[in-house]
Amino acid sequence: MITELCGKRVFPIGFGTWRMGGEMTANSANDDSEVKAIKYAIANGINVIDTAEMYGSGHAEELVSNAIKRMDREKLFIISKVWPTNLGHDRMIRSAENSLRRLNSKYIDLYLIHWPNPLANMREAIGAMEELIDRGIIRHMGVSNFGPNDVKKAMESAKKYDIEANEISYSLAKKDPEDYLIPFCQKHNIKVIAHTPLARGNVLKMREVIELAEKYNKKPSQIALNYLMKKSLPIPKAVNMRHIKELIGAVGWGMDEEDYSKLSGMR
Ligand SMILES: NC(=O)c1ccc[n+]([C@@H]2O[C@H](COP(=O)([O-])OP(=O)(O)OC[C@H]3O[C@@H](n4cnc5c(N)ncnc54)[C@H](OP(=O)(O)O)[C@@H]3O)[C@@H](O)[C@H]2O)c1
Repeated sequence: MITELCGKRVFPIGFGTWRMGGEMTANSANDDSEVKAIKYAIANGINVIDTAEMYGSGHAEELVSNAIKRMDREKLFIISKVWPTNLGHDRMIRSAENSLRRLNSKYIDLYLIHWPNPLANMREAIGAMEELIDRGIIRHMGVSNFGPNDVKKAMESAKKYDIEANEISYSLAKKDPEDYLIPFCQKHNIKVIAHTPLARGNVLKMREVIELAEKYNKKPSQIALNYLMKKSLPIPKAVNMRHIKELIGAVGWGMDEEDYSKLSGMR
């Protein structure tokens, strides 16, 4: 279970914001309910919030800002991401400054390259991230959706600071990272953050998950996240308050080893 990220104590599940504030473009129609959802998640113990410059074309970051104002910033762990077309030095610096302005914050805890870009110069991108750390705009750097070769390249490009995390698609519907990528990241002390951990709801319908939910008197979402927490920090997204409450209930208990193995062996 991950309870510490880049030196800060964290709740073992985080909170996603994709599709809040729009998708590829901003949409303010649900601002109130989305801000309320983020506040509710934080009030109930979650302190890792995942967002990106791409989400709602920056509007998700504004919703996060709105939700966290008047909160103790030091207790929160905010992740944001730079889009792969912005990996050149000047573009990356501008992206991070814009994210910081939208977040209305003094710093971003962890800044990730959202996706690898084979056309970008990795050393230039990582160098720009290191400059952002030196300027205090971001505190830590990492990557997202990087396979082992890209992680290796990023690590080799880092001169002053470490690649601290890799945010990847990992769920009971997508367990292939367990074969090589997760052990690789663990070996290099890179934290695995699991995005799309509910496979957008698909894992909740799996027979094995439903059976274990009955056995442990838990909800299918809680079985799904409890499993992922062994090797990663899952960041589910929910707007519905009942859903958020359920997600938080994934923490604080465990399954028998044989049940983890059953889920792990499921293909
Ligand atoms: N780095 C990347 O490239 C990348 C890619 C994808 C996602 N992400 C991050 O990962 C986060 C999570 O991924 P995701 O939002 O795509 O998918 P997800 O978390 O797997 O699924 C979200 C969906 O599950 C529903 N849900 C949540 N809790 C539930 C519960 N207890 N019971 C039933 N349904 C429940 C939500 O409904 P309601 O909203 O109606 O409550 C929402 O429709 C994103 O928000 C984003 O921050 C990162």
